[in-house]
Amino acid sequence: MLHFLSHSLVATAALLATAALAATTARPASRAEDAKAGYLLTTFPVQDEAVYMRLSNGNDAHSWRALSLNGRQDILRSDISTEGVRDTFVVPSQDGSQFWLTGTDLNVNAHEGDFNASTRFGSRSMLLWTSPDLVNWKGPSLTPALVNASAGNVWAPEAYYDPLVKAYVVVFASRFWSDKDKDRTGPVPNNVLMYVTTQDFKSFSPAKTYFNPGYPVIDATFLPMPEEGANVWYRWVKSEVDFKVFQQRSTNGILGKWTNVGGAPDSTRIEFASQYSNNEGPLIFRDNVDRRKFHLWIDENTLNTYIPATATTLNDMAAWKADSRDGFPQHIKHGKVLAVNQRQYDAILAKYQVVNGA
Ligand SMILES: *[C@@H]1O[C@H](CO)[C@@H](O)[C@H](O)[C@H]1NC(C)=O
Ligand SMILES: *[C@@H]1O[C@H](CO)[C@@H](O)[C@H](O)[C@H]1NC(C)=O
Repeated sequence: MLHFLSHSLVATAALLATAALAATTARPASRAEDAKAGYLLTTFPVQDEAVYMRLSNGNDAHSWRALSLNGRQDILRSDISTEGVRDTFVVPSQDGSQFWLTGTDLNVNAHEGDFNASTRFGSRSMLLWTSPDLVNWKGPSLTPALVNASAGNVWAPEAYYDPLVKAYVVVFASRFWSDKDKDRTGPVPNNVLMYVTTQDFKSFSPAKTYFNPGYPVIDATFLPMPEEGANVWYRWVKSEVDFKVFQQRSTNGILGKWTNVGGAPDSTRIEFASQYSNNEGPLIFRDNVDRRKFHLWIDENTLNTYIPATATTLNDMAAWKADSRDGFPQHIKHGKVLAVNQRQYDAILAKYQVVNGA
C-alpha cells in the first residue's frame, strides 16, 4: 500500500514536472519568435522607380542581400497613375494584423529625371500596398487626394500611429500654387510639410500644415523614444535651402512642440554626409542588438545612394559618425528599414531568393 501510494505520487510529480516543463518551454519559444532577427529594407535605385527590397544578414545592419522573385529584383511595381513609386515606407498596424507600404506616386524617369513637371501638376495621392506578413503584398492602390487642387505634389509620405492623436498621422511635402499662376509656369513655391490623419488608410482627414519654418522643407522621418517619456519623439527634416538634414525632439507627440536637439541653433545641420551633394531622404532605426545604438542613413545625389552612420545619443547632431561603406549596398535610395522577427525573417527567405553581392 505504502509502496503503491508513493509510486502514484512519483507519477503525479512526474506529470506535474512535464506540465511545468511544457509551460516553461512554450514561453521562450514564442519569445524567440518575437526576438528581432534582422531588418527589411524597402528602397529603389535611381534609374528604376519601383520597390526593391533587401534583407540584412542576421542583425548586421551593414550587411545586406537583395531579394529577388522569379529572377527580378523589382519586387513591387506601380502600374497605376504615374506608374512610378519612390520613397517607400512601411507602417505596422496597431492591431498587428497587417502592414501598409506607402510610397510617393512619382515617375521622374519618365521625364528624363526632371522634377519640374512633377511638382507643378504632380500626383496629390499616395500609393499603397498591404500585407499580412511582409511577404505577400497586395496593390498598389491610390489613396484619395490628400491635399486640395492647389497642390502640385505629395512627396515622401510617412505614417505613424500617435497615441495622443489616436490615429495614424501621415506627414508629406506639398507645394501650393497661387491661383494667380493658373498655368503654374512661374517660380516654384516652397515645399511645406503637411499632415492628414487616418484610422484605415482609406479615408483621411483634411490636410493641415505640419511644419512650415518659412523656408522649403521635405522628407520628414520620425522615431518614438518611449524610454525618454511616453510621448517623446525625434524627427529628421531636410532643408531645401542648404540641402542638409536637421534633428529635433518633441515631448508631446508628433503634433507637439519641436526643438533642435541639444539646444542647437537653427542653422545646425547633420554633417556626416555633407561632402556629397543634396542630403535627403533620412532613414532612422534602432539597432536590434544594442538598443542604445541608432542608425541614420542619408540619401545623397553624388553617388545616388545611402550613406550610413551610427550614434549612441540622439541629443547631439554632431554625434553621427559615418560608417564604412565596405560591403554596404550601392544604388539604394530613399526608403525604410524595418526590424523583423525570426518568423518574418524566415518567411521572407522562404518566398524570395537572395542575390549576394548585389
Ligand atoms: C489649399 O490648401 C492650402 C494649404 O492648406 C491653402 O493654403 C490653400 O489656400 C488651399 N487652396 C484652396 C483653393 O482652398
Ligand atoms: C518648368 O515647367 C514650367 C511649366 O511647364 C516651364 O514654364 C518652365 O520653363 C520649366 N522650367 C524648367 C527649368 O524646365
